[in-house]
Amino acid sequence: MNTATIKLEERDGIAVVTVNRPEKLNALNGTVIAELHETFSALKSKPEIRSVVLTGAGDKAFIAGADIAELAACDPAAARENARRGQALTLAIEHLGKPVIAAVNGYALGGGCELALACSMRLASENAKLGQPEVKLGIICGYGGSQRLPRLVGRGRALEMLLSGEPIDAAEALRIGLVNRVVKREALLGEAEALARKFLAVGPVAVNYTLEAVDRGLDLPLEKALEWEAELFSRCFATSDMKEGTRAFLEKRAPKFTGR
Ligand code: COA
Repeated sequence: MNTATIKLEERDGIAVVTVNRPEKLNALNGTVIAELHETFSALKSKPEIRSVVLTGAGDKAFIAGADIAELAACDPAAARENARRGQALTLAIEHLGKPVIAAVNGYALGGGCELALACSMRLASENAKLGQPEVKLGIICGYGGSQRLPRLVGRGRALEMLLSGEPIDAAEALRIGLVNRVVKREALLGEAEALARKFLAVGPVAVNYTLEAVDRGLDLPLEKALEWEAELFSRCFATSDMKEGTRAFLEKRAPKFTGR
């Protein structure tokens, strides 16, 4: 399913979602946000798709942020709506129930960095630049950056980025844990797909529950989060995947998971 601004390719259990507005460095206008949200909603209900790669079209940018021409026309009420739509998209990515890998192939600024933050993990090309330049426009993050960035890299590093608005390069992003690894530009999509493919070999229910345990658990006090982990652990024992996984190990063969 391709739309005006989103290219979607599905192959062998993996979906590659490309924001396709390269003439504006894939900036997130209302259409891109709506079409990305539709795309992720559609992927959520496709059991055959088990992991997703998110990237941007062209050589320069992953996503260069929210569309500044649209922001310039917002009053406070429209700005709140804009933020809520962007935040809803980040939640749809975060709660997809399948791993989402951001393949950051250039500028990931503002909303672009925030979408990457909502992904399960991030790979960057050597030319990538990541940042939250909102303060340079006299505004703050609206798509979750003020919350997810400190949770990922820590308060001090996040505040340096958020308050200066200065982007960091791929090597620095790697050093502070903002990206998982850095690869050559031409190898980026291949590496992202290879990583996505690793998650096809393991139990689908276990992948889903692991995402639930980590993502919901991080927002709970530790004792509550441990209860949540035990609940999900227990639920695994009602699945065919658990029976197959343990039996296959004991029979010294590869498991054939069904996702049930
Ligand atoms: N919103 C709207 N349009 C954007 C955009 C954004 N966030 N980012 C880039 N564009 C547009 C430019 O206006 C330009 O359009 P035009 O050719 O019609 O004039 C086109 O994309 C190419 O961008 P350009 O600025 O010419 O490329 P560059 O290589 O000189 O600079 C950036 C690249 C990323 C440094 C620069 O585009 C930039 O600073 N973008 C804004 C980043 C930002 O502040 N994002 C956060 C928004 S909250």
